[in-house]
Amino acid sequence: MRIAIGSDHAGFGLKQELADHLRQEGYDVDDLGTHSEDSVDYPEYGALVAHAVVDGEADYGVCVCGTGIGIGIAANKVRGARAAVVHDATSARMARQHNDANVVCVGARLTGPQAAADALDAFLGATFEGGRHQRRIDRITALEGEQ
Ligand code: RB5
Repeated sequence: MRIAIGSDHAGFGLKQELADHLRQEGYDVDDLGTHSEDSVDYPEYGALVAHAVVDGEADYGVCVCGTGIGIGIAANKVRGARAAVVHDATSARMARQHNDANVVCVGARLTGPQAAADALDAFLGATFEGGRHQRRIDRITALEGEQ
């Protein structure tokens, strides 16, 4: 499975740790940057990760910034992206099961490395439940056409 990962400067350290974690688990990780702690703007990296997913270059995306919020907002501006900010394994698992999220976002200033790695494992190990949730995802997709 191919995972695109990206962060801003605030998320750089955690992004490196999560990329290593995913590689150790056998995932094919595409690190889209940033590649240092020099200040950058998170929308660029949220968009890069989201485009990689919706364009089919990655199965899922991982975004990291200080809170996960800014980069998640940016990722969600890309048509077809469903980016979820998560704080733990439970929110990460439900983002897949109920929301069919295809991008998971974590905050390096809020979530420690072990909790973030556990959240990624929960996200990637969960399956969208479909059923009544599919109707709601279809409605979200329809909203994109109303913009
Ligand atoms: C950068 O200082 C910070 O604003 C960014 O990483 C993120 O937390 C924004 O949502």
